[in-house]
Amino acid sequence: MLKELRERKKLTQKELAEKLLISDKTISKWETGKGLPDITLVTPLAEALSISVAELFAGEYAINDNCSANVKKLKFYVCPICGNIITSFGEGDFNCCGVKLPVLTVEEDSPEESPEHIINVEKIEHDFFVHMEHPMTKQHYISFMAYVTSDRYTLVKLYPEQNAECRFMSRGHGIIYAYCNRHGLFKLNV
Ligand SMILES: [Fe+2]
Repeated sequence: MLKELRERKKLTQKELAEKLLISDKTISKWETGKGLPDITLVTPLAEALSISVAELFAGEYAINDNCSANVKKLKFYVCPICGNIITSFGEGDFNCCGVKLPVLTVEEDSPEESPEHIINVEKIEHDFFVHMEHPMTKQHYISFMAYVTSDRYTLVKLYPEQNAECRFMSRGHGIIYAYCNRHGLFKLNV
């Protein structure tokens, strides 16, 4: 890994050694697994290779090819205990109320099976008016709706006793999500 990272940074063993005030032979030893960096060199080495100390210790680094993460790949996590909503541009480990939250997957119910989960969208002037024929009781309700396009997302929290509806200012093609506290996540491409 060290060799790969050094080459990515276009550094020779000698150049990296100079940054760390050590000999290039030492770098060679590390890269061939014949030696390990002294603890005092861990932070400067991680800095020189542009990775975190945690990644250096783990022996693997997060490949940053994903830095242009597509917002359309937005993931939702909902805490079953307090209802907290967490969004992420990739999968991660998220805990709330002592529970590790699973990533929500979109439900594949057919419209005939659960007509109340059909997301209806009407274009009204510059807005998308999103509405559902879904109960909004404390036990069973749509707890949020979100509109996700390629570069941003808008999330609207809904509460029982409200209507299962909201408006989003249109930003063109995207995905509308609606989350039912009992039946999960539903989506519609717009
Ligand atoms: Fe539902």
